Amino acid sequence: MSKDKIVIFDTTLRDGEQSPGASMTRDEKVRIAKALEKMNVDVIEAGFAIASPGDFAAVKAVAEAVKDSTVCSLARAGIQDIESAGEALAKANSSRIHTFIATSPIHMKYKLQMTPEQVLDQAVRSVKHARNYTDNVEFSCEDASRSEFEYLCKIIEATISAGATTINLPDTVGYGIPDEYGALVKSIIENVPNSDKAIFSVHCHNDLGLAVANSLAAVQNGARQVECTINGLGERAGNASLEEIVMAIRTRHDQLPVATTIDTQHIVPTSRLVATITGFPVQPNKAIVGANAFAHEAGIHQDGVIKHRETYEIMKAEDVGWSTNRLVLGKHSGRRALYKRLEELGVVFESREESDQIFKKFKELADKKHEIYDEDLQALVSDTQTIELEEQYQLVSLEVCSKTGQTPQAKLQLLNNSKQVDASASGSGPVDATFKAIEQIAKSGTNLQLYSVNAITQGTDSQGEVTVRLEENGHIVNGSGADTDIVIASAKAYIHALNLLGSDRQRAHPQTEGI
Ligand code: KIV
Ligand code: ZN
Repeated sequence: MSKDKIVIFDTTLRDGEQSPGASMTRDEKVRIAKALEKMNVDVIEAGFAIASPGDFAAVKAVAEAVKDSTVCSLARAGIQDIESAGEALAKANSSRIHTFIATSPIHMKYKLQMTPEQVLDQAVRSVKHARNYTDNVEFSCEDASRSEFEYLCKIIEATISAGATTINLPDTVGYGIPDEYGALVKSIIENVPNSDKAIFSVHCHNDLGLAVANSLAAVQNGARQVECTINGLGERAGNASLEEIVMAIRTRHDQLPVATTIDTQHIVPTSRLVATITGFPVQPNKAIVGANAFAHEAGIHQDGVIKHRETYEIMKAEDVGWSTNRLVLGKHSGRRALYKRLEELGVVFESREESDQIFKKFKELADKKHEIYDEDLQALVSDTQTIELEEQYQLVSLEVCSKTGQTPQAKLQLLNNSKQVDASASGSGPVDATFKAIEQIAKSGTNLQLYSVNAITQGTDSQGEVTVRLEENGHIVNGSGADTDIVIASAKAYIHALNLLGSDRQRAHPQTEGI
C-alpha cells in the first residue's frame, strides 16, 4: 500500500449505532454497508458481534453481502468476544477483527479493575487469538489520549509483536486538542521500535467539536487510517465525520499530501440513506451534506458565484453527489424498473412476499405523488423493513378530525399482538391526539424526548419523514415513519419506537460491560 494512502475505516454501523437511539436492523445495516462498499470505503466495521444475537446476525449478513471492502467486527480483548467476531466474519471475502482494551490509568483502575500488567497480558493473548481467524487484526488502546506515554509504547510494541497489523489510538472521550494529539501520534510512531510493522489509526470523538481537526492533525503526523462515520454519528457527540475527513483531504492536498480512494459522488446519497434509516436528520448547516452546504443566500455571494464559482465555493456540489438527486420512477413504472433501481440502492429482499409488498406500496405512493425519487424509495423500504422486528403493535387505520375552533380528535385501530383494539383521544393538535390514542392502548409510560418532521423531497406532495424518540429507564430508541400524510407518518413512527423498545432491551454495550 502506498505510504500516502489513507485507509477509510467506517464505523457508522458500530460506533454510529451507539448514538442513543440509532439502532438499525440487520437489513438496514446491509443496505448501508452496500452503499459504503459502492463508495469504496476500505474497511466497514459492521458491528459488535457478541453484543446480541441480532448484532451477530447483522455482522454475518454484512460479511456475506459485501465483496469489495474489508468487513470488521469489534471484540473486547477476551476469548469469547474474539470467537464470536471470528465466527460472524467467517464468510467475508476479506475480514478484520478489531479488538480493544482500555489503557488509561482511570479506565484500568475504575472500569476494568485490572493492573497494567494484566491489561497488557490480555491484549497480547487476544491479538494472538484473533490471528487464528484472520491475519488482519486491529488493536485499539481505548482512551489512548489519556494514557501514559511509556505504557502506551509498551503495549503497542507487544501487540504488534503478537500480530496486530493496525494500531488504533482512540480519543475515546473527545479530550484531545489537535497539536497535542498529532504530537502523540508522531511520538508513538517514533518511539515504538516495531512501529513500521503496523498502520497507525485514529478514532476521534467529537465532545469538544474537534474530532475532524484531531484526525487531520494525526494524519499530518503519520496516521494512515482514519475511523469515521457518515454524518458524524456516534457515541455521545459522535465521531469524526467521513464526508468532512475525505473532502478536507481532497480539497487541501497542499496541507495534507495524502489521498483516499473514496468515490465522493456517493457521499450525499449515503448520508441521506443513513439519516433515513437512523431517524437522525442532518442539520441544514452541516458541512458537505447539509441542505445549505452549497446554498448562497447573500446577494453578494450569489453575484460572485455566478461570475466565478471559486470566489465563494471551495468544492463542487456535484463532486459530493448533490446533483444526483434524479427522478427515477413514476406511476407507470413497472416491477422490473422498481426492482432494478432498488438493487442499485443496495436493497436486498428476503422473500417474494417482501418484494411484492414493496411493489404494492410503491404503486400506492405513485398514486399520491407523481415523481418518485431515490429518497422516496429509501423511506418506503425502511418503512416496510421495520416489519422485520418482532412487532407487538401494528397500525390498522387512523382517522383524524382537525377543524378551526374545535379540539382535534383521533380515532385509531391497532393490532396488539395480533388482536385488534380501538382507541380515540383528543389533543392539542392531530398528532398529539394520535399519540394519546396510541398510549391509551400501549400504556407504555415512556417519555417522548423528540418529535421531528422532515420533508423527504421538495414540494407539498413530499413524503414527511417523522422521528419519534422515546425513553424508558434510560434506554432510548428512535422510531421513524414516512408517509405523504404526516399524521399517519407520525403514528407509524410512534408505533415503530414502541416496537423497538420491546426488541432492543437486551443488547450489551462494548464500553460499559465487563469482560
Ligand atoms: O471510542 C473508542 O475508544 C472506541 C473503541 C472501541 C475503538 O469506540
Ligand atoms: Zn468510539
